[in-house]
Amino acid sequence: MKILIVGGNGMLGPWVVKAMKNKHDLMLTDINEPPSSYDGEYKKLSVDDVDGLVKLSSGVDVIVNLSVLREDRKLAFDVNTLGNYSIMVAARENGIKKIVNTGPHFQLVGPQYEEWDFNLNPDMPHQPGTRLYALTKSLGQEICRVFSETYDIHVITLLFYNMKHHWDLGGGEDDILYNVDMQVPYSTAWPDCGDAIKCAVEVPIENLNSNCESFFILPDLPHKKFNSSKTNKVLGWTPRYHLENLWNKEMRNPESHHTEAY
Ligand SMILES: NC(=O)c1ccc[n+]([C@@H]2O[C@H](COP(=O)([O-])OP(=O)(O)OC[C@H]3O[C@@H](n4cnc5c(N)ncnc54)[C@H](O)[C@@H]3O)[C@@H](O)[C@H]2O)c1
Repeated sequence: MKILIVGGNGMLGPWVVKAMKNKHDLMLTDINEPPSSYDGEYKKLSVDDVDGLVKLSSGVDVIVNLSVLREDRKLAFDVNTLGNYSIMVAARENGIKKIVNTGPHFQLVGPQYEEWDFNLNPDMPHQPGTRLYALTKSLGQEICRVFSETYDIHVITLLFYNMKHHWDLGGGEDDILYNVDMQVPYSTAWPDCGDAIKCAVEVPIENLNSNCESFFILPDLPHKKFNSSKTNKVLGWTPRYHLENLWNKEMRNPESHHTEAY
């Protein structure tokens, strides 16, 4: 498939490219240049440039939106909210039937949910709170929802909490750890995040319950604060790297691989 990746030169972009480049035809857009190691197609474009995006996405099968701006009231609104408007217009004008959108968990699960509830699921009514990042992303998602229902476009929104290197999560193939305390309790390894985008790009639209579906991209935890079962069931995504080693506070010595409890 021909995939247009918007905001592809940030932290997540290279992992998405890595997950998909052998199977799909990728084009990156961003306002920043790609790293010199990237040798694929690239076009400099701001996501809120509606005409530019309409033109560039002609012949594209799926648009993946990785763009984000977390601070500055106007720029955050232009990128996180109006950017989604541009993408949906580009989809409508070019007959593109699937959009993969991304954002932080708190554009849905704001402080009211997160502080008090458990078994949080991605179909809950949005409660983003008043934080600029959460609110602008949530508004962007709402624009996607309206377009998806009006023009029969499928929008998949993947919600992440925090992304880490897999060697910082422990228990993976490198199995290095750490007597460090967790700074962020819910994290997903970068390669797993890249794979989640691939799963969303490839899932047949017949498998989706509605035109506008959200998914948490988080490994499971025993206390089930976040419920990611829908992600596995519908997208077929399972993380390779889990969080047990962060939560059980084991201390390992990387040289001897000797493990001792605190
Ligand atoms: N990194 C994390 O831990 C994390 C956690 C939760 C959610 N997310 C979500 O994952 C997605 C990717 O995040 P990331 O970590 O790669 O972010 P990032 O800030 O590293 O990258 C964002 C990219 O968007 C680009 N961008 C900014 N303004 C733009 C514009 N006007 N037009 C086009 N591109 C523009 C930036 O140049 C950058 O390359 C975002 O939706 C973000 O909300 C990330």
